[in-house]
Amino acid sequence: MLEAIQPAPRDAILGLTAAFREDPRSEKINLSVGVYQNELGATPTLESVRIAEQRLAEAATSKSYLPIPGAPEYAEVVQKLAFGAKHEAVQSSRIATAHTPGGTGALRVAGDFLKTNFPNATLWLSDPTWPNHPNIFVAAGVPMKSYPYFDKESNGLAIEPMLEAISKMPAGDVILLHGCCHNPTGIDPTAEQWKQIAEAVYAQGLLPVLDFAYQGFADGIEEDAAGLRAFAQPEAELLLCSSFSKNFGLYRERVGALSIVCPSADAASAVQSQMNRVIRSNYSNPPAHGGAIVNSVLRDDALRASWEKEVATMRERINGMRQQLVEALAAQGVPGDYSFITRQRGMFSFTGLTKDQVETLREKHAIYIVGSGRINVAGLTPTNIERVAEAISEVVGQPA
Ligand SMILES: Cc1ncc(COP(=O)(O)O)c(C=O)c1O
Repeated sequence: MLEAIQPAPRDAILGLTAAFREDPRSEKINLSVGVYQNELGATPTLESVRIAEQRLAEAATSKSYLPIPGAPEYAEVVQKLAFGAKHEAVQSSRIATAHTPGGTGALRVAGDFLKTNFPNATLWLSDPTWPNHPNIFVAAGVPMKSYPYFDKESNGLAIEPMLEAISKMPAGDVILLHGCCHNPTGIDPTAEQWKQIAEAVYAQGLLPVLDFAYQGFADGIEEDAAGLRAFAQPEAELLLCSSFSKNFGLYRERVGALSIVCPSADAASAVQSQMNRVIRSNYSNPPAHGGAIVNSVLRDDALRASWEKEVATMRERINGMRQQLVEALAAQGVPGDYSFITRQRGMFSFTGLTKDQVETLREKHAIYIVGSGRINVAGLTPTNIERVAEAISEVVGQPA
């Protein structure tokens, strides 16, 4: 039977990393995968995480199972970080939270929850979106459609077409939004636009899902929750998929959470039981280590302060690289206005490079970029930025 199995296509992004690893050229630069790198091109363990891990190792007494939705103290810090400790929904216990293996796990549990409880709902994804979104929801059997998000002309948000599309979505459908640092475009709504979007979504009777994988990478830990909080109004319902892969640098520990904001504490208890059912038949209960780290850091004032500083360092480095890239492209005389790169937020930038240009960058210059023209700005360093700008200048061509 297994003889007939054909190889699966390579994952669009992780496949590129595999190709990068196999590339023998020493000058190669990887700007494809979504992993933060410091100015030396390394992805080190955060100091706050290292200290929390040491403490946890010393205090550990058991490796017994966690409850199906994970440790309750973890759920509490997750909710407080995202919504704010004093938020009415947190205080009134109307949020059901489960610790999931990464943000991907949160999205998959959300997909299974939606399919089980709202089998006729269509999920609306932004065009473009993170390429793994469709994979996850196809696997969960959730039907999907897309809504406009990116305005090519202005390299900005297509707010009017987006609102127009929302106004035509059938009530009872589900809409997925990126909480901040939209992947792949780097374009987020303004505070005012978030309000408009939230109003439009609820006026239409839609259930929003916010994918929140980069809290702290745009403007600040609190500031980046503005979109989420525009949705989390009294009585509002929503799903929130948190990931701590990037802002805690806990990529391989697989730590995230699904929180479902319900209209009442009773509804939250029923929803929690449905989430638990989905999890039990999927991975049974979450891995403990990553969640325990996040919990320890967020509960200890000194560790939390040092974590906040570390997040600020990552954010400022990325935003600094955005500025330097724009300056380096201008210095190379690359035609066009690239200042939009400094207005984008998070690790990614949609550069406008075409598929052919991306291919030339890889083949001729050993620079790896996702086919959509998305670059990981955090992969730029003071050492490689000149070479990247020179190569882009060569593939884009000089003015006549
Ligand atoms: C938009 C978005 N959502 C979710 C995730 C999930 O991250 P993880 O499963 O590694 O926590 C990512 C990671 O790249 C992402 O970019």
